[in-house]
Amino acid sequence: MNIGGTLIAGPAAGSLTGHISVPGDKSMSHRAVMLASLADGTTEIHGFLPGEDNLATAQMFVDMGVRIDWLNAEKTSLRVHGVGMHGLQQPASVLDAGNSGTCVRLMTGVLAGQHFASTMNGDASLCKRPMKRVVDPVRRMGAVVEGRDGGTLLPITIRGGDLKAIHHVSEVASAQVKSCVLLAGLYAEGETTVKEPRPTRDHTERMLPLFGQPVELDANGIIHLKPVGRLVAPEAPVHIPADPSSATFFAIAASLVPGSDVLMTRIGMNPLRNGWSRILAAMQGNLRFENESSVGEEHVADIRAVSALLRGVHVNPADVPDAIDEFPALFAAAALADGEFVLSEAGELRVKESDRIAVMARALNAAGAQIEELPDGARITGGKLAGGCSIDAEGDHRIAMAMAVAAQCAERDIRIENAAAIATSFPDFVPMAQAIGMNVRWASE
Ligand code: S3P
Repeated sequence: MNIGGTLIAGPAAGSLTGHISVPGDKSMSHRAVMLASLADGTTEIHGFLPGEDNLATAQMFVDMGVRIDWLNAEKTSLRVHGVGMHGLQQPASVLDAGNSGTCVRLMTGVLAGQHFASTMNGDASLCKRPMKRVVDPVRRMGAVVEGRDGGTLLPITIRGGDLKAIHHVSEVASAQVKSCVLLAGLYAEGETTVKEPRPTRDHTERMLPLFGQPVELDANGIIHLKPVGRLVAPEAPVHIPADPSSATFFAIAASLVPGSDVLMTRIGMNPLRNGWSRILAAMQGNLRFENESSVGEEHVADIRAVSALLRGVHVNPADVPDAIDEFPALFAAAALADGEFVLSEAGELRVKESDRIAVMARALNAAGAQIEELPDGARITGGKLAGGCSIDAEGDHRIAMAMAVAAQCAERDIRIENAAAIATSFPDFVPMAQAIGMNVRWASE
């Protein structure tokens, strides 16, 4: 776990204004470096997110013999010299996923296809997170997986190769599970299919065809992958849109702080990631979408967030997977909105980088909010936030950033402990927040 790092966030001195470019999408950055590494040929990627999570994925491929040239000092552009689907080499040591669930779960699918044994480990948070959801399907496909608790907790060792296709019916709405099975399916004999309880982000399905591997979604919502046997580097560079999950923090801060007007450019508008904007709009948020266009297979738009008087809502459970990473920020909005906000059917939040229901409830209640935990969600009665407290982000990046947003409307400062994990997904969060006028700084600065 990313322990340490204290943020001091206080009431905003005035309105939040400005025009910012939030960094690249985390989910797409993982997938781009994975597919580029497994492709024949060289792929250029621009708009890569240089967060610790994505760098962990890139490093895994370097550890298995892939050459990656960074094209700028910020590490947002790179050239990946793909080794082909069968060109990875057995790593000399343990592959380290750090804090990243997406890295370890998608790589379970990739490693299941390799004719060598490899071991993945992660930090204290990742070692507690459930892996059975990906280990079970790759075992059914023929991979051998060993590890703690019957191979369902990290570290795990995967001995892959000679996979057979499966029809996977996932119990959890998880893009990580779906993507793991599809990636393993690239190596399997026969057609792999995945059925999800609710649709989840489809970046893997959109990106695979760019590398020459078709994926189909049928009328019953079943995803089909007939492996063509190789991935081919696209001729054109892969451009990654800005991350809507990062944009949410600023959209909510601008909504909450009176007089604010913040413009964020080229934000990913994939409908399966857009639940946050639908929920914020239902809360009477004032979001405007301008300059809609496409980047590769994904839609983007500039988003202008203007302050508004937010109201609590009962979140439609169908929107939950499309906003799964945005609930810490939406809880902050709800704590400062008028009326009651109720979230249910979101038990997955308990197995993220932290138990996000419990950790947000502790943090917001300590700051003076009224939030009651439900087994699979929360009930929040909006009002004021007193602040003047110290809370523990428990090494979870999104909790730290959500509480920094909440603090903009608190009466006094909030001290956010164990916030260093912000670097996993948004290393420049603090300077960017400062640029629009948010009152937030590292205690060490
Ligand atoms: C992700 C899927 C989601 C999300 C995570 C990124 C992905 O996890 O919470 O931050 O890139 O596939 P689940 O698939 O476990 O819901």
